[in-house]
Amino acid sequence: MDLYSEIILDHYKNPHNKGHIDSPTCKADEENPQCGDTLSIELKIENSVVTEVAFNGAGCAISQAATSMLTDYLKGKSIEEINKLKPDDIYKMLGIDISPGRIKCALLGLSTTQQAIKNHNNASKKD
Ligand code: FES
Repeated sequence: MDLYSEIILDHYKNPHNKGHIDSPTCKADEENPQCGDTLSIELKIENSVVTEVAFNGAGCAISQAATSMLTDYLKGKSIEEINKLKPDDIYKMLGIDISPGRIKCALLGLSTTQQAIKNHNNASKKD
């Protein structure tokens, strides 16, 4: 196997948490401006902890695998832990070197997730 590890290809072919959840408490959509691929993340947050997560959208193997792995990780994590996630955490999950041209692909799921949490926080402030 050359560019992508088998694990990445497996997540790409059989993505985890793809679809929708019932009554998400927040969501966000983002686009990778380099390619036009869009990703949406839905979260259910209860007592500041993610209890359910789903994603949707098209993209390359790196973006889909990174988001599939990230969504597995998110379940049971607090908002605080998720806001602390850095690009390096995603690269570690992927386990391969990410070339500069693929950074946006690898991080699309993370930035969309953190945007969904911002939307959640903004919505809770209005209550
Ligand atoms: Fe579009 Fe990677 S090429 S997300």
